[in-house]
Amino acid sequence: MSRGLFITLEGGDGSGKSTQAELLGHWLAAEGREIVRTREPGGTPFGNEVREIVLHSRGDISPRAEALLYAADRAHHIATKVRPALARGEIVIQDRYLDSSVAYQGAGRVLDATEIRELSLWAAEGLLPDVTILLDLDEDVARERLDSANKKFDRLEAEKSEFHARVRHAFLALAAAEPERFLVLDASLPIAELAESIRARIAPLL
Ligand code: TYD
Repeated sequence: MSRGLFITLEGGDGSGKSTQAELLGHWLAAEGREIVRTREPGGTPFGNEVREIVLHSRGDISPRAEALLYAADRAHHIATKVRPALARGEIVIQDRYLDSSVAYQGAGRVLDATEIRELSLWAAEGLLPDVTILLDLDEDVARERLDSANKKFDRLEAEKSEFHARVRHAFLALAAAEPERFLVLDASLPIAELAESIRARIAPLL
């Protein structure tokens, strides 16, 4: 049976991942491919409950508890939604995956990056994406975008600029370590130009 394609989008809050995921999905659907658009945290009913806790809990959540919540969401999501879709030969387009845990819980919360990666790989039984698109954006520019969107910040978005700078640099280091998996794009470029670069990276894999 053909195996599908697992594409993840990563980047800081406000980097435009969802817009690009949507454009990519439309293009692939127009090419006649079966698409599953999903996200972490969330993507399943259980995952949406975890998402609510991890993003909107009013009390403090300790860093390791936060890491385990993201890992619990991931374990269930990959087992029940992503792997079955890939086994059917479908293309999974996912907002955020294990690189977000390494960047946010590893660099952001200052936990051990290797342990966080291993926790995620354990949760997902070793599944890595075929392609990861990193939308890289200066943290202050991202903050301006979020401010102008005028929505209430969640627990992670509300972190200060230094936190988001650590997250950004961790993503760039992850991409440098696995250049064959990552496509790094400057998220300040026009939306259509970014979409074109993403299509050019995916087209040979179809
Ligand atoms: P996201 O869905 O991108 O938020 P929004 O829809 O508000 O743009 O992601 C929610 C937040 O969760 C985001 O700030 C990053 C964070 N996150 C982690 O800290 N670790 C993880 O493993 C994942 C998947 C997300």
